[in-house]
Amino acid sequence: MSFRIQPAAPARPNRCQLFGPGSRPAIFEKMAASDADVINLDLEDSVAPSDKDSARANIIKAISEIDWGKKTLSVRINGLDTPYWYRDVVELLEQAGERLDQIMIPKVGCAADVYAVDALVTAVETAKGREKKISFEVIIESAAGIAHVEEIAASSPRLQAMSLGAADFAASMGMQTTGIGGTQENYYMQRGEQKHWSDPWHWAQAAIVAACRTHGVLPVDGPFGDFSDDEGFRAQARRSATLGMVGKWAIHPKQIALSNEVFTPSEEAVAEAREILAAMEEAKAKGEGATVYKGRLVDIASIKQAEVVVRQSEMIAGG
Ligand code: COA
Ligand code: MG
Repeated sequence: MSFRIQPAAPARPNRCQLFGPGSRPAIFEKMAASDADVINLDLEDSVAPSDKDSARANIIKAISEIDWGKKTLSVRINGLDTPYWYRDVVELLEQAGERLDQIMIPKVGCAADVYAVDALVTAVETAKGREKKISFEVIIESAAGIAHVEEIAASSPRLQAMSLGAADFAASMGMQTTGIGGTQENYYMQRGEQKHWSDPWHWAQAAIVAACRTHGVLPVDGPFGDFSDDEGFRAQARRSATLGMVGKWAIHPKQIALSNEVFTPSEEAVAEAREILAAMEEAKAKGEGATVYKGRLVDIASIKQAEVVVRQSEMIAGG
């Protein structure tokens, strides 16, 4: 057991991150009016190369003109392997209003990638006298990203969130699939006639959660491509929530309610967590460190587990 106390991740709701292409300004108002906690206006892979400049201008204009409410407002810049990213950062930070909260850096492969963006952001922020310090989120979506996930999680005090980007991740890893997240037909165990589908994203998610929790960053599950498959989305999101992730992307508005549903602790779960806390209070009063709740063991570790659920619920209710 390390003597270091695990840092808390930012206390803000991040149950659903809604994406929309910067080249499609007609949907910006709808995004702002949605129930997503985080908005990701995209300059990267949903925007064609010929539209990069106009998408940037659309986003800069929309940041100050649209009422984004209490949402975390984030812009996904282009990757460091493109000729676009520096202009994304400079123009956003020079021209966009103070309402901008966050920059999302895609395809991060090592801590130095984040350092490079941090240096540029810091210079422009200082030069322009911007009051709000822009926060970062990153996408782990390459073999290098997952191999260096811990140093990336520790890379900058600006870093608040880290997502798994299933499509680019699968391509970079050479995975034989064109599916974006969820169950993969060929990833199964078989016994006799019985097939059991396993989860090829599991280890990457668990690695992201561990890196994030070590460094006080919010772990987030990325896109689920088949937006016609609500049950598939729910199942993927429930697995992510069970592993410790706090939210998931929506690449279509119909995924917002599903994500909010899964990542908001249910009334029953919160009630049970409160009962466990009460049972442990009683045990403590009797000088006991462990007791029985509904026929099962609860002890001092159960207090911490129950507090995760209660804290998450209270933070969302207050958000
Ligand atoms: N945010 C808010 N509203 C959206 C939206 C989004 N991302 N995508 C679509 N809508 C709106 C549409 O304008 C339409 O509104 P209306 O009922 O007022 O006409 C409604 O939701 C239904 O849209 P639908 O016709 O089902 O979808 P579409 O064909 O217009 O768009 C996508 C489908 C997938 C192309 C679009 O959702 C999209 O661009 N998603 C984000 C892609 C992205 O950013 N990818 C990068 C991250 S992986
Ligand atoms: Mg990607």
